Parts: sequence; structure tokens; C-alpha cells
Amino acid sequence: MNITKLEQKYEGKAKKVFATSDPSFYIVEYKDDATAFNGLKKGTISGKGIINNKMSNLMFQLLEKNGVKTHFVEQLNDRETLVKAVSIVPLEIIIRNVAAGSFSKRYGVPEGTALKCPTLEFSLKNDELNDPLINDSHIIALGVATEKELAEISALAYKVNEVLKEFFAGIGVKLIDFKIEAGRLPDGSIVLADEISPDTCRFWDAKTNEKLDKDRFRRDMGGVEQAYQEMFRRITNV
Ligand code: TMP
Ligand code: ASP
Repeated sequence: MNITKLEQKYEGKAKKVFATSDPSFYIVEYKDDATAFNGLKKGTISGKGIINNKMSNLMFQLLEKNGVKTHFVEQLNDRETLVKAVSIVPLEIIIRNVAAGSFSKRYGVPEGTALKCPTLEFSLKNDELNDPLINDSHIIALGVATEKELAEISALAYKVNEVLKEFFAGIGVKLIDFKIEAGRLPDGSIVLADEISPDTCRFWDAKTNEKLDKDRFRRDMGGVEQAYQEMFRRITNV
């Protein structure tokens, strides 16, 4: 495709988004910057941008094969990917299979407790408000998404979980929880957007429960780069 990169449209904590010569497409560039606790903790995870770019793209392709529509078009190089231009629904869409993180804290459930069924929750993407938890009726009442979009987003999230849980089980990894984002195409349809990486998922080794994700950075556990590399090694060896 003969598309050139134009001006930066947006810079997030882990990625930049650029306009292109075709308004139907954006270019996403993955950075090594890492933040936690809404930007209070800052650092760099060397090589993270390359791993997250490649890993996300492999996950999006796997999901497409399984009937999930995504924004993915084509990987351009180590850090850049061509994606469909979407407007992001300002929600963090979180699925959990095992209690961890904020869920464990909020409900007083030890990390590692298996949940009887996957849970779905939403946070409003708003840094100033610290991404507050938001329920379905609030989302609809505030016009963040319509009832129909919310039903589509929820079905998409559970489907992503089924596909990813099985895939990661096959490479000896438990998918504890993850966050995804959804985007609207110009025709109003909903697609999976953003990224799927150790930044946005909790991955535990199936045998040892060793953490292979960004919790190593959030919690100053060390071995951060090695964890990202190990996840990438397992995914690309399959
Ligand atoms: P939590 O337990 O801190 O709510 O996180 C749930 C999942 O969402 C976990 O896999 C990490 C991911 N996540 C993000 O991708 N971005 C965020 O800003 C936060 C807080 C969590
Ligand atoms: N994206 C979060 C931040 O606000 C970090 C996290 O993933 O915990 O910095």
C-alpha cells in the first residue's frame, strides 16, 4: 500500500498515532515508555515497543481468523503498524478469569482465586478522573455508547477472552485478566482496537504462576524486559 505518514494526531502513554495520506488509515507507533498508576510511576522498558507491536499484531490476526473484527491492517516495521482509522469508545473494557489487581483489592479476594465465570467491567477512559469504574446504565445515560454498541462490545470482549484463553493455555500461560478498547468505524460498526500485550494483560506461567507481564514493572519485581521477551518467545515458537 502506498501510504505516507503525516502529522501526529495523538500521543498516549505507550503509543503515538499518526494521520496518513489516506484518511481511512492511521499509523500507530509503539514506544518503550512505561507508566503505572495513571502516570505517577514512569519508566522505560527497553524493547517493549517492538514486542508489543509484533505481539498485538499476531493476536489481532489470530482473533480475525476466529471471526473478531479488528482495526489491524498491516505491520509496517518493528514499531509501526497501519490500522483502520477509528474513533475510540472511551472505555477500558476489562475481562477477568482469575482475581488479581484492583479486583482483589476492591473485593478483598486473594490474588489467584479462580472466578466461577469470566467477569466483565468497564472504566471510563478519563485520566483526570482516574479512569473510574462505570456501569452499563451510566455508559448509556452519559452517551458514552449506545445500548446496541454496548451489547456488541460485551460480546466482543467475551469472544476475545475465549480465543485468547485457549491460545495462551497452549503455550503454558494463564490469561488472568486483560483490558481491551473498541473503536467505531465510519459506518458505525465496532471493531477491536488499541493493543493486546503484556502492558494490557496479566499473564502467569501455568506451572509456576510466575508473572510475565507489566505487574513486574508496576510492583518493582525486576525481570521486566525478560518477562516481555519470554512472552514473545512463547508466542512465536508455536
Ligand atoms: P486492574 O486489576 O489494575 O484493574 O487491571 C486489570 C487489567 O487491565 C490488567 O490486565 C491490566 C490492565 N490495565 C491496562 O491495560 N491499563 C490500565 O490503565 C490499567 C489500570 C489496567
Ligand atoms: N496505563 C496505566 C497508567 O496510567 C498503567 C497501568 O497499566 O497500570 O499509567
